[in-house]
Amino acid sequence: MKYLIDTGNVEAIRHINEFYPIAGVTTNPTLVAKEKTDFWKLIKEIRNIIGDDKMLHVQTVQTTAEKMVEEAKLIKETVGGELYIKIPIGEEGLKATMMLKKLGIGVTMTAIFTPQQALIAAKAGADFVAPYVNRLDNIVGDGTRVVEDIVIEFDNYGLDCQVLSASFKNVEQIHNCALSGCHTATIAPELFKAAISHPMTDAAVNGFTSDWKAVYGDKTILDF
Ligand code: E4P
Repeated sequence: MKYLIDTGNVEAIRHINEFYPIAGVTTNPTLVAKEKTDFWKLIKEIRNIIGDDKMLHVQTVQTTAEKMVEEAKLIKETVGGELYIKIPIGEEGLKATMMLKKLGIGVTMTAIFTPQQALIAAKAGADFVAPYVNRLDNIVGDGTRVVEDIVIEFDNYGLDCQVLSASFKNVEQIHNCALSGCHTATIAPELFKAAISHPMTDAAVNGFTSDWKAVYGDKTILDF
């Protein structure tokens, strides 16, 4: 499973990109708006931090297929690199997806809440579909089950489209999606630290350090 970071915050992206094996960044209009800065400055800075080879998923804010395509072309020209235009599922979005595929522009169909939405998005040519796990869990749905069903659908029909699970609020949700065989998960910055932390790990590391110091003091292997 590939990990992406779900944020528009450049400091968080810089940190996570340096310390974690991420495959890219996802944003959405809410995350961009939180930064209260110039859109192009922000998106270009994110591209600059992660480089051209890592994925950048940027969402259109248009509501008609033609305008979505116009905006997608401008984003592609301006930011370049490994780029996917996020488009919410809907009639206009599906039409835009089919148009963008003819132009060779990558698409992530977002705001997915059901396996049928995902299957139709994949048939339209979406490269990724983004089911919202925590938002489903919050309405007493089963976010992981939806992800599992989408993975099965794509396997059954040999579709190239990848499942990009999104909207996580805890590590257990990420773990359950990983078990489902989903291809990619996009995660808020704070969940990366939560995913690698464990009190037993801290205890083990503290033990190594104190046992070593008891015999060798501050000397390290480099000092022998
Ligand atoms: C990603 O595609 C979504 O925009 C994002 O993960 C939604 O997350 P939220 O439910 O925390 O807003």
